[in-house]
Amino acid sequence: MNYDDVMKLALERGFYFPSCEIYGDAHAGFWEYGPAGVGLKNNYLELWRRELVRRDDMLEIDGSQIMSQSVFEASGHLSSFADPIIKCKECKSTFRVDKLISEKTKIEIPESADLLDFDKAISENNLKCPNCKGGFEAARKFNMMFKVGIGPDGEPAYLRPETCQSIFVDFPRLYKTMRGKLPFGVAQIGKSFRNEISPRQSLLRLREFYQAEIEVFCNPNKLNDVEKFSDVQDTVIRVQLDELKEMSCKEAVESDIIPNKFVAYYLGILAEFYEKTGIDMSRSRFRKLGEKEKAFYAEIAFDFEVETTIGWLELVACNYRSDYDLGGHAKKSKEKFEVMDDDEKVLPHVFEISMGIDRSLYSILEHCLRDDKENDRIVLSLKPYLAPIQVGVLSLVKKDGLKEKTDDIYQAIKRKYDSFLDHSGAIGRRYRRLDEVGTPFAITIDHQTLQDDTVTLRDRDSMEQNRIKVSEIDSVLYKKTAFP
Ligand code: GLY
Repeated sequence: MNYDDVMKLALERGFYFPSCEIYGDAHAGFWEYGPAGVGLKNNYLELWRRELVRRDDMLEIDGSQIMSQSVFEASGHLSSFADPIIKCKECKSTFRVDKLISEKTKIEIPESADLLDFDKAISENNLKCPNCKGGFEAARKFNMMFKVGIGPDGEPAYLRPETCQSIFVDFPRLYKTMRGKLPFGVAQIGKSFRNEISPRQSLLRLREFYQAEIEVFCNPNKLNDVEKFSDVQDTVIRVQLDELKEMSCKEAVESDIIPNKFVAYYLGILAEFYEKTGIDMSRSRFRKLGEKEKAFYAEIAFDFEVETTIGWLELVACNYRSDYDLGGHAKKSKEKFEVMDDDEKVLPHVFEISMGIDRSLYSILEHCLRDDKENDRIVLSLKPYLAPIQVGVLSLVKKDGLKEKTDDIYQAIKRKYDSFLDHSGAIGRRYRRLDEVGTPFAITIDHQTLQDDTVTLRDRDSMEQNRIKVSEIDSVLYKKTAFP
């Protein structure tokens, strides 16, 4: 199913919707998660913690969203975190110039290209303002950070454009107090903020968005000395160079497609994680970025991308940032960032796995949503451990004591499982509503329940119903909804 189908589901079933929507001055690029969206997000993040953070003995922190000016002077964001834009001389509308050119001409100019390249493409293709047909001013750079004023004098500070700056700034303290040892992984979930020129497509280009970032600090002289590599050497990844190739992590390193075992290890565990989210991995790829496509801090970059009905979406930026960040903060702050690795003193290098949570959730929804025409229903086939509601608890009818029995069962399980109690409406329609919101199981209490203390357990995907004892509900659900 496509973007519009996901949007309809999101709006009607409480996954997400526009922020401040009752007001005319609401800005584009801000969205809220409703109850179903929060449930899905929480479960997704729990899977992320299990499969990446805990698997690899990483530490998790939670840093400030507003950070001081020095942080972004040192990080390079004040000078380099800018999009190329172009403004109409007549109506003053502003556009991302690289996007405008690619939409109108299919010519792809990387966003970090020289500004003159954009001006040249605009004039050679005689491009005019899409709103009023006016001519354009020269292209210029627009810094995408939101500036805020602290205290009555409005001292300048910034909403962080990436969560990881706290991890870099906190590195000396973390390494010391947590008795760090390289490789040293630090993770963080949180919001980041970017003043996008053209926010669009709901969760896909937001001005305020969630990231789950992992920064692994390593000794650059030991990038092939990775004990854990054997865990992923046979894991299959799809890598896009000139063509898309499917290969094991081991083959990718041996053929120099991935530069070392260290990078390949993290791409491998990332692929294993996404496999468990329900995303169709045959529609995924790691795309190696060219020189002009990489972020200003990245030495080597692979984007993990997923194919959707609106094209390939970048879900994760995997950047080898070398000593760019620690070096920058060491110089600016005069703090010591070097550490001992056995007998060697090193300024650690950083490999990051920077995940866009909102886009990941969108991709899961699109890949899991299906139109089951045969059974006249829309089904969101979420993995049971990701489902915002794991079990519906339904009374067949309210009378004859069935309501009370249903309430008792609901009370007994609701603190352990995300449950939804429903007494009213035709049973078929109630099942269909649960199918649409991705609920993998439904328990129905009927007249037989009162005789033999059994209920029916309906499976969303197969629609099969089996009778189980009330006393078995907990153990059956426990097994069926457990994280892998
Ligand atoms: N930390 C990398 C990014 O935000 O894209």
